[in-house]
Amino acid sequence: MNGARVLLGVSGGIAAYKAAALTSTLVQRGAIVDVIMTAAAERFVAPLTFASLTARPVYTALWDAPERIPHIRLVREAQAAMVVPATAHVVAKLALGIADDLLTTALLAARIPIAIAPAMNDAMFEHPATQAHLATLRERGYEIIEPEEGYLAEGERGVGRLASEERLIESLARMLSPQTLAGRRVAITAGPTREAFDPVRFVSNASTGATGIALAREAMRRGADVTLILGPTLLVPPPGVRTVRVNTAAEMLDAVLKHAVGADIAIASAAVADWRPAQHSEEKMKKSGDAMSLSFEPNPDVLAALGERKGKTLLVGFAAETGDHDRNAREKLRRKHLDAIAVNDVRGGAGFGTGENALVLLWGEDGRTDLGRADKETLAARLLDAIEGMKRA
Ligand code: CTP
Repeated sequence: MNGARVLLGVSGGIAAYKAAALTSTLVQRGAIVDVIMTAAAERFVAPLTFASLTARPVYTALWDAPERIPHIRLVREAQAAMVVPATAHVVAKLALGIADDLLTTALLAARIPIAIAPAMNDAMFEHPATQAHLATLRERGYEIIEPEEGYLAEGERGVGRLASEERLIESLARMLSPQTLAGRRVAITAGPTREAFDPVRFVSNASTGATGIALAREAMRRGADVTLILGPTLLVPPPGVRTVRVNTAAEMLDAVLKHAVGADIAIASAAVADWRPAQHSEEKMKKSGDAMSLSFEPNPDVLAALGERKGKTLLVGFAAETGDHDRNAREKLRRKHLDAIAVNDVRGGAGFGTGENALVLLWGEDGRTDLGRADKETLAARLLDAIEGMKRA
């Protein structure tokens, strides 16, 4: 979000304090945040809180600096706007076009993407009036970030709790990204597979799925319809991505044949186990004091199976190599019918379970782009840029 200009509207609900935490996160990620507070919001949180967090003036009234026409200036300077929390009152005013304070006036004058995060008592949220206003706003292209079910300030449970900070940030990131993959179907495999040989033991590898999850998040931000086929990992897949959970290579193959065939872009970042134990014991194996050995049989190659059904899909594989990288990776590219292959050097375990990675993308006969060393989010963005470039070419 480096340098992104964000307009944050805060209206008067108890969740206004969460808008302060959100502001802090956005500023830490490099966004420049202008905050407009309604009069009711000022009863819950002081403007000083937001001014301190953003190191910028906070706007509370149309008449603060009338010579600068703040409602027009603020929406012209911002790339996206968000109302967190949006009360029933503000939702109703926005739907009806009532512009009677700085926030509603500014948003009526806005030609930028706007997201609304309602938070209120569950009965107020479910009321047909509120629902009708939200439907109107949705029709007009506002993004409604639905509230969640959970503990409400009245001490009860219900639907009306402000969406999590992660969901709020995800919506904002999407509004700020050029929608270069809008209408495209993208399928991504990620994570390890787990091949069991008794009810509690398995063979697996050190992949966490972080690269594939970062790719899924970035593709979703660019407007794609994303399916993530994810092996066992403790990492949480991004909200807004359709995630299909699998354990074994065989399950991953089934899921890929179901969800990835016919996609516009398919990226195989999973570290699929090449072998699985040849026997599986229904009972937990007992130790006997003797050495024990397992025999293995080959697993299906998920990516190669997809390559055989390639059609118009732009197919990208990964190659984990410890030596003679380009030659080995090009051989995989040809053998699996890929359009491109992202090579990472896994000597010494690099890339697995770490925040950083280094990738080189090989394509066609001799195409080669060094994507450099960076955190996995940055590399995911560079890889998608390169893939989009190939799609256009
Ligand atoms: N892959 C797959 N199914 C497998 C093995 C690999 O889909 N059973 C995919 C990976 O997701 C990756 C690519 O194939 O995109 C290459 O994986 P890699 O492990 O580097 O290559 P292998 O084909 O397994 O070859 P080797 O282990 O001999 O280097």
